[in-house]
Amino acid sequence: MKEQIEQLTAQIQELKCRTEKEIEDARVRLLGKKGEITRLFEEFRTVSPEVKREFGQKLNVLKKLASDKIQELKAEVAVSASAAAPSDDVSMPGDPLPLGSRHPVSIARQEIVNIFRKFGYDVAEGPEVEDDYHVFEALNFPPNHPARDMQDTFFVSAGHPNPLLLRTHTSSVQVRTMERMKPPIRVICPGRVFRNEAISARAHCIFHQVEGLYIDEGVNFADLKQAILLFAREMFGADTQIRMRPSYFPFTEPSAEVDVSCNICHGKGCNICKGTGWLEILGCGMVDPNVLEASGIDSKKYSGFAFGMGIERIAMLKWQVNDLRHYFENDMRFLREFSNCVEV
Ligand code: PHE
Repeated sequence: MKEQIEQLTAQIQELKCRTEKEIEDARVRLLGKKGEITRLFEEFRTVSPEVKREFGQKLNVLKKLASDKIQELKAEVAVSASAAAPSDDVSMPGDPLPLGSRHPVSIARQEIVNIFRKFGYDVAEGPEVEDDYHVFEALNFPPNHPARDMQDTFFVSAGHPNPLLLRTHTSSVQVRTMERMKPPIRVICPGRVFRNEAISARAHCIFHQVEGLYIDEGVNFADLKQAILLFAREMFGADTQIRMRPSYFPFTEPSAEVDVSCNICHGKGCNICKGTGWLEILGCGMVDPNVLEASGIDSKKYSGFAFGMGIERIAMLKWQVNDLRHYFENDMRFLREFSNCVEV
């Protein structure tokens, strides 16, 4: 019996199988009902008591060796089977990951910034959560101006006398820039603004503006007009005309609103320009001396102009989008229309 156990041990250690079938055959041959190890166990019942203990141990070791080996062989065959299985066809074209593109508001903002950069303007930024001082007080808003009312402004904290609020225009960045820099100042300030307005095709409670500020000695209204004309021609085409209408802003004097000639009907009148041939694009004016003084700039020595435009509005006119809400809904069909837009 001892010899048989040794022989079988050597056989099992050497055992090699290539298929599951071969493994199963080996298992039956060794451990099956009529298998060799099973047969040895039967024989074991008849051995003399003196050697029972010794053979018993040896047989158990043998049985364990056999079943471990079977498991091991099964694992090996499984691994090589999966390696040999036909793999994915690597020559097939990959699944394309659709590339996103810039949002139209972002494209328009960048175009506006690029145009003014060419004119020598730097970009300045300021906080969206502002205080009353920078949004109203320093900009010459009288204490009872309606813009200071809860109806028009989102207040963040009631703090008296200088509550925190969401800025209603980027003109607050004018103030921060004048506090920080000495003239000559030539900056544009793109950013998000907030107004407590009902959402419609023409208004939203969140939108974007670009503010412009130019302060130096001897800056006059003709400079303002020229800057805006150059901008309008870069943005809407070389034959664009502008017109200025008198207007009012507390922080500019005189103030104006600027229209550009309709780039769709070229002045003939269409439904985009409502038959007038003109489209309003921005508000502007000469910085009020009170505003310069409030930020520590000598209004006798320096003068300047400021302007502010809504980015969505410029983008609507440029791409003839008739509803402002498209810019906020992120409908992929709308956004995809801009995927080939190249900035000027
Ligand atoms: N801040 C004004 C607005 O939001 C626009 C403006 C900016 C007007 C600068 C004049 C000068 O309507």
